[in-house]
Amino acid sequence: MSSVVKVAVFPVAGRGTRFLPATKASPKEMLPVVDKPLIQYAVEEALDAGASTLVFVTGRSKRAIEDHFDKDHELERELEASGKKELLESIRQLVPGWADCIYIRQSAPLGLGHAVLCARPVVGDRPFFVHLADDLISAEPSCLKQMQTVYRKEGASVLAVQDVPRDQTDKYGIAEVKSFSDQVGELASIVEKPSPAQAPSTLGVVGRYVLTPGIFDQLEKIGRGAGGEIQLTDGISRLLHSQKVFAYQFDGTRYDCGDKLGYLKATVELACAHPQFGADFSEYLQSLKT
Ligand code: UTP
Repeated sequence: MSSVVKVAVFPVAGRGTRFLPATKASPKEMLPVVDKPLIQYAVEEALDAGASTLVFVTGRSKRAIEDHFDKDHELERELEASGKKELLESIRQLVPGWADCIYIRQSAPLGLGHAVLCARPVVGDRPFFVHLADDLISAEPSCLKQMQTVYRKEGASVLAVQDVPRDQTDKYGIAEVKSFSDQVGELASIVEKPSPAQAPSTLGVVGRYVLTPGIFDQLEKIGRGAGGEIQLTDGISRLLHSQKVFAYQFDGTRYDCGDKLGYLKATVELACAHPQFGADFSEYLQSLKT
């Protein structure tokens, strides 16, 4: 098996109910944070971490995602003719020529585990990233890049984890880790959305994974789990019987952009850090306080 991850899977077929009505007809991955849709942040992170094959698992009303990454010759001609060079550059090379975009349709939103399984025909026997675009992580180096480094060292699946409040364990896959050394710990167990009383720890799994292809056989075998969905967490739990899996406490700030408050926080913080208008925007926020 390759010692470097070159394939990234983006499951974008969820319903996004927490963000209704905004997500009724358009995908939540197209929600813009400042001036880019969430899915563009995701693609940039995966490319930066070394991915050259980008696999989007799409569902209904997700056409906008394909259109976003497609070339728009007409728009490019218009921007060129009107001399809008900066805008032209911002849309010209969203995905570089050396990277491939592949779209697979998930027939129905049966769960994240099912979405990942849909990518099997493209991923085959290679390790791969799973990137959930609604988890925006601001980090330098990027979260996936940090995880690529851990994968190259351990040669096993790696899950990004962070400490979450105990009263929120029922929103996450929760990991139990033997012990941490340099932010990396071997997984002892993992459970999907346990109640605060039953959670084995408060280490929540967030939307970045490196998975070995062994996960596919496990996902084939599991049935519906929490919430009636085919859960990636249950597949990872089974994978643990035959392979080591590692949890990684990444450096960076995570925003849950599938949630309205998390999305607003991301928007404000990234706007304040924006090179062009961050200073003006921060000043404006200050003026609201007085
Ligand atoms: P979420 O748990 O955020 O579910 O999915 P959701 O349906 O998108 O949103 P809510 O909870 O209804 O608001 C986590 C990730 O898994 C993808 C989603 O697109 C999201 O990136 N997903 C989930 C799929 O691709 N297919 C599914 O069947 C379920």
